[in-house]
Amino acid sequence: MKDKVRVMISEEEVNARTRELAEQISKDYEGKSVHLICILKGSVFFSCELAKRLTIPVTLDFMSVSSYGSETVSSGRVRILKDLDESIQGRNVLIVEDIIDSGNTLAYLMDLLGTRAPESISICTLLDKPDRRVTDVDVKYVGFVIPDEFVVGYGLDYDQYYRNLPYVGVVEN
Ligand code: IMP
Ligand code: MG
Repeated sequence: MKDKVRVMISEEEVNARTRELAEQISKDYEGKSVHLICILKGSVFFSCELAKRLTIPVTLDFMSVSSYGSETVSSGRVRILKDLDESIQGRNVLIVEDIIDSGNTLAYLMDLLGTRAPESISICTLLDKPDRRVTDVDVKYVGFVIPDEFVVGYGLDYDQYYRNLPYVGVVEN
């Protein structure tokens, strides 16, 4: 991994924005508990940072769906690799994603999880690339709206690398 990574969103900026989102979510769900669904693997880092800052009761579950593989263009296919461990019936579900690109993954997940009788279901994403949207999806909480560039770090990978960078950046060859 000799490529250089240009910082797009610094660690400090991500932390500050995560705190703001957590405050908003804690306010919106006041008196309730929230069931976070972390979409593996990309959203692991953001999910943890968000969860740590929530002041309402939190439970967590994990789901894994197919993504790009080694390509950088969405295939439009969504496949469940790992389903949730627990029922979401009657729960206030908040899906936590790293990035919304075409919207295919989240549109599919919203439809699927919506059939399992949750009390409510919303989406929180660290990043949103609206220029690339193919399928419309209602996103309640957005960390940062970013331009159409392929980003890595803070959970986001290029060929499985760079997830551990503490900031969001662009690989420059
Ligand atoms: P969507 O279904 O096209 O919205 O994309 C969903 C998934 O594509 C995300 O959860 C990421 O795993 C991946 N993805 C989309 N854009 C990027 C990017 O810029 N960098 C790394 N992964 C991305
Ligand atoms: Mg990925």
